[in-house]
Amino acid sequence: MTGDPYKKKTIRISTIIIEVYYMFFFKSKFFAKVKKGSWAVVTGASDGIGKEFAIQLSQKGYNIVLISRTTEKMEEVSKTIKEKEPSRETLIISADLSEKESIEKIASKINDLEIEIFVNNAGQSNEFPLLFHELDEKTRKNIMNINAVNFVELTKLMIEKMMEKKNGLILTMGSLSAIHGAPLLGLYAGTKSFVLNFTNSLAYEYKDSGIKFHCFKPSFIATNMTKMRASFTVPSAQKFVRTALNRIGSPQIDINPVPIHRVIEIFSNFFVHFFMNYVAQIGRKLRRRAIEKQQLLDKSKQD
Ligand SMILES: NC(=O)c1ccc[n+]([C@@H]2O[C@H](COP(=O)([O-])OP(=O)(O)OC[C@H]3O[C@@H](n4cnc5c(N)ncnc54)[C@H](OP(=O)(O)O)[C@@H]3O)[C@@H](O)[C@H]2O)c1
Repeated sequence: MTGDPYKKKTIRISTIIIEVYYMFFFKSKFFAKVKKGSWAVVTGASDGIGKEFAIQLSQKGYNIVLISRTTEKMEEVSKTIKEKEPSRETLIISADLSEKESIEKIASKINDLEIEIFVNNAGQSNEFPLLFHELDEKTRKNIMNINAVNFVELTKLMIEKMMEKKNGLILTMGSLSAIHGAPLLGLYAGTKSFVLNFTNSLAYEYKDSGIKFHCFKPSFIATNMTKMRASFTVPSAQKFVRTALNRIGSPQIDINPVPIHRVIEIFSNFFVHFFMNYVAQIGRKLRRRAIEKQQLLDKSKQD
């Protein structure tokens, strides 16, 4: 069966028009009427993308629960929020999301809050690209626990709270690596595929319960995780979050909000093997450089 070529062409053109509309013309109305006293919970809120979600959501009218391991950095974020929006409240929860006990701690602290938004953002990758068997046990466990195991537990906690009010929004951070994988960051990419599929599934599972879901799947963003500077292809966290929040409420569940990242995604879908070999090549180069740097450091310590 070859199908009707006219029909196929029409579908393709319609898809492009829809894509362009959401990318460039859609304006989110989701934040038009934020109820006073509503809270947004952001994990990984001390830095990078999470910090920006915390700041920009506070500007949209939410009080913010900040979660990460580093209290001092969250205090700084809280100060920034209050300087910009003096009437906002913040709650700082120091918690290590690689540890199971942190979930109970978070649950008890947010018990009385009216939570409308949960940004399940905290994530970990290996420090630099490595072959899978080279990852030490701690790194393997941290990636699994932060990006998947406790990610799931926090999702359950928030869904149960949101079900009571039949209202809520859950945002997750996938990655472009979730789509085809990322050689030499394989475990990280695997967990991000999980995040993407899990979020997509829940979006339909909870369709009638008033809880909305979006999963973002960007390429590189200029944060501590990538150690990259902002450029045309690598947006700042601030720009990424601004474009991401402008897509909330669109019917698309998984979203690549930065136009150049979406172009890279489409390219990777057409030329999967080329794309994967290219990523593997860069990964090997970065691995070699990082190992050489480490060896030099070890040597200088011995001398
Ligand atoms: N940057 C990118 O290019 C990119 C691309 C695609 C997807 N993402 C995803 O976006 C999310 C945020 O990444 P990012 O670039 O903003 O990273 P980042 O700048 O390294 O920030 C990571 C945040 O997570 C927190 N965190 C790390 N380990 C934690 C732990 N064990 N317990 C609690 N909090 C922890 C960190 O705070 P503390 O150190 O204070 O705990 C920090 O606030 C991640 O899920 C990442 O996979 C990033």
